Amino acid sequence: MVLRDRFKGKISAGAMEFLNSLRVDREMIMEDIWLNQAHVIMLERQGIVPREDAAKILSALDDLKAEAMAGGFQLKEELEDVHMNVESYVTEKAGQAGGKMHTARSRNDQVVTDVRMKLRGEILETVGLLITLDRTLLKLAEKSKSTVMPGYTHLQHAQPITLGFWASSYAEMFFRDIERMLGSYSRVNSSPLGACALSGTSFPIDRKFTARLLGFDSLQENALDAVSSRDFILESLSSLAILTSNLSRLSEELVLWSTEEFSLIEMPDEFSAGSSIMPQKKNPDLAELIRGSAGRTYGNLVQALTAVKGITSGYNRDLQEDRALLWDSFRVVNSSVEIMNGILAGVKWNDKRMFALVEDGFSCATELANSLVMKEGMPFRKAHSVTGKLVKSLIKEGKNFKDISDVRKLLKKEGIELSEKDLRNLLDPSKAVSASRSIGGTSPAEVGRVAKSLKKELLVKEKSLKGKRKGIEDAGKETEKLVREIV
Ligand code: ARG
Repeated sequence: MVLRDRFKGKISAGAMEFLNSLRVDREMIMEDIWLNQAHVIMLERQGIVPREDAAKILSALDDLKAEAMAGGFQLKEELEDVHMNVESYVTEKAGQAGGKMHTARSRNDQVVTDVRMKLRGEILETVGLLITLDRTLLKLAEKSKSTVMPGYTHLQHAQPITLGFWASSYAEMFFRDIERMLGSYSRVNSSPLGACALSGTSFPIDRKFTARLLGFDSLQENALDAVSSRDFILESLSSLAILTSNLSRLSEELVLWSTEEFSLIEMPDEFSAGSSIMPQKKNPDLAELIRGSAGRTYGNLVQALTAVKGITSGYNRDLQEDRALLWDSFRVVNSSVEIMNGILAGVKWNDKRMFALVEDGFSCATELANSLVMKEGMPFRKAHSVTGKLVKSLIKEGKNFKDISDVRKLLKKEGIELSEKDLRNLLDPSKAVSASRSIGGTSPAEVGRVAKSLKKELLVKEKSLKGKRKGIEDAGKETEKLVREIV
């Protein structure tokens, strides 16, 4: 048992099982080792720990790193958490010197530093996956920028759009998720190390130096805030919750479109499941699971918000809860993004059916009303009413906009003379789509322009992602170099 010299009695086995954080700490072993290396290098540089002791500690950390990388390092429950496990390993190997490792710091600044280091990697991983997903959507957007399909409002046929337009709407959505996650990165990648328990320290530590060695971009200055705040975790959990909301909407749309009734798409076999009793079934289970994952990320966010809302200044053990939620959300989000990418890359789009649904209906009604305004100089309200009546009469006769001569006759009754050729042009879904040339409209020209510019912006995000990864890698190399100088 550790840290219990002031106690008379032992902690009970049940209490230790309840208290220990091994199940959420496992993922941070490498981060904790790196943190210890940077801290010890700094202690030696500042003259707080003699070089020969620093060498012993760093060499024990080397052994531990090798063991951990080979998967051979077993965390012991009686040592409470990853930090005490690492310290105990080092002390066993380095003897007395090991006891100097925990000078001028606390588990309070240590744990939140580890979490921030692990979290920044998770953010970059998700952003990378989102960039791939966005590229798949943009590829689809460019390929199908002239593929006409019904656009829906209230899930009723509204106006014709293109499949490419639809795809680029999701590309824009996920681009915002990328921005949101990268936006939170600077608040995550900031070092709390050196805050110690809550008030800083009287040892002459160099916080900026350890921050640099650990690849942080800045310092969390106020020591009390640095150890007590977890809003950076809440922010990430919110971003993930929003992202899964977007993914869930996309999933729902694909599930719906793959039904017999819609028949707009066929799901790829590789991302569909069968039924145990109905041999004919091909179920969109994968998309459904993505839709379901939103429930998990919302739950994790609400749990974390609730866990921290009553916490007083300074570290409280409730904070131990946040990590499990964080890692769980990242796990489910990352696989959801990857699976969604696979689904989109393999879906078969039923272009014919999409076009037929528009042609054999009334989706072009707004465009007809618009042309009455433009050609006949009619007020829009009047054009709306004339077109509405026309639709009513066509429905009564069991016709639609494809029946040009009927449309012509009915308009004539209203005193509107349009040639069949003109009408055919007006009610041509492809022409209606091409006419929506306003910024961000559904015309192929606009879809192409938006897709091109989003692609460029993705390159910028990718560059920023690579830069951040390199920054972390370089910091790792610098730490390693300094370790070798001392050991
Ligand atoms: N295992 C703890 C956690 O996960 C580490 C910090 C412990 N600090 C303390 N003052 N008890 O949060």
